[in-house]
Amino acid sequence: MTRTVVLAGTSGYGATYLREIAGLEKEGVLRLAGLCDVRPLVSSAQPQFGDRLFDSRLDRLLDLTRPDVAIVSTPIHTHLPLGRAALEAGCHLMLEKPPAPSAAEWRELDALSRQAGVSCQVGFQSLGSGAFARLAELMAAGTLGRIQGIGCYGAWTRDAAYYQRAAWAGRRELDGRPVADGALTNPFAHATATALALDGSTGWDDIATLETELFRVRDIATDDTSCLRLTTRRGTVITVAVTLAARVPAEPVLIVHGSRLRAELRYTEDVLVVDGRPTRYGRTSPLRNLLDHLGDPPVALQSSIAACGAFTRVLETVNTSPSPRLLDDRWLARDGEGLKTRTYVRGVEEAVRASAERLATFTELGEPWAA
Ligand SMILES: NC(=O)c1ccc[n+]([C@@H]2O[C@H](COP(=O)([O-])OP(=O)(O)OC[C@H]3O[C@@H](n4cnc5c(N)ncnc54)[C@H](O)[C@@H]3O)[C@@H](O)[C@H]2O)c1
Repeated sequence: MTRTVVLAGTSGYGATYLREIAGLEKEGVLRLAGLCDVRPLVSSAQPQFGDRLFDSRLDRLLDLTRPDVAIVSTPIHTHLPLGRAALEAGCHLMLEKPPAPSAAEWRELDALSRQAGVSCQVGFQSLGSGAFARLAELMAAGTLGRIQGIGCYGAWTRDAAYYQRAAWAGRRELDGRPVADGALTNPFAHATATALALDGSTGWDDIATLETELFRVRDIATDDTSCLRLTTRRGTVITVAVTLAARVPAEPVLIVHGSRLRAELRYTEDVLVVDGRPTRYGRTSPLRNLLDHLGDPPVALQSSIAACGAFTRVLETVNTSPSPRLLDDRWLARDGEGLKTRTYVRGVEEAVRASAERLATFTELGEPWAA
C-alpha cells in the first residue's frame, strides 16, 4: 500500500528525510504529498520535489493534502504545535528526537496521539539497529551474565558556527518556551534513550535516582560537557558522559558491563563488539518501521512516543537544573578563528571514557575542572 506523507522541515535534518523519501517513493511505499517550511525549498531538492505542494503552515498543508503520515523534523520547540496540528488532523506522526523540550509538552503529544488513535514514532534511529536488537537479546538471555551497569561516552567537537546556525542552538529556552538543546538532551540524546531501552526502562516511573554534572566551555545556556548517572527501578546503574568540546572526536560508545562478558555498542555505526569481537549490523529507519507498523500492526514501533517517558524525565531534569558551570580558561585550549574557533577541555576524551568504564561521575573521577 502506498501511504501519503508530508514533511515539515526540509533542510537541516530534513535533508535526510528528503533522501529517504526519494528512495521510498521509488519503491512505491509512499508518495510525498507536500512540504512545509518557513524557508523556501533548497535548490538541490527542487528537481525532485519542486512540483509538490509547498506551504509555510503545516495546518494549511494538512487541510489540502489529508496525508496518512506527517513527518516533523523541525526545531525542538516547534514539535508540540506542529505535532499537535498533525495529530488533530488524524495523521500518524513521525516526530524527530527529542520528542519535546519539556515533560508537559511530551505528555500532551503522547495524550493527543492516544486520543486520536494514531501512531507516533520518535526519531531515535539507534533503536532500529540490528546491533541494538542483538545486544538486547544477549542481555535478556543472560549471555553477558548479571548486568552490573551501562556506561555511555561520547566526544564530539563543535565550532563556534554550530551555535550560530539557528536561534535555538545551545538554548535552554527561546522566547519563554523550553528548547533543551544541550549535549545530553539533543546531540547525544540517543545515548540515554538507547541505554534506557536496553534496560527495558522507558517509562517515566522507571527511574529511581538521577544526578547530573553539567558544564560548558562557551557563552551558551546549555551544557556541552556533562555527565549523568541514574539508577533504574530494576537496579541498573546507567551513566552517560559526553562532550562537544573534544580535541580528538570519536563516535559514541555504550558499554554494557556484564558479570561474564562485556559488550560495546557503537550506536551511530551499528557495530556491536562482544568480548572484543566486532560485528556490523543493518538498520531499519524510524520512518520505515512506522510504515511497516501501519501495514502490519504486530510489527512494534521501535521508538513510540509513549516509550520516551524515562528519556523525557532525564531531559526535563537536565534542562531545569541550575545553569551549567562555565569552565575556567585554565582547563581549556582553542584553535581556529572566528566562526571556526573550536574550544577544547584538556583531557576530556579520557574523562568521558573513564566515566563509562567505572560508572562514575566527573567529580568522583577527580577531574580537576569538575571540582
Ligand atoms: N535523528 C538524528 O540523528 C537527528 C540529527 C540532527 C537533528 N535531529 C533533529 O531534527 C530536528 C530538526 O533539527 P535541525 O537541526 O534540522 O533544525 P533546523 O533549525 O535546521 O530546522 C530544520 C528545518 O525546519 C524549518 N522550520 C523551522 N521552524 C519551522 C516551522 N515552524 N514550520 C515549518 N518548518 C520550520 C527550518 O526552516 C529548517 O528548514 C530537531 O528535532 C533535531 O533534534 C535529529
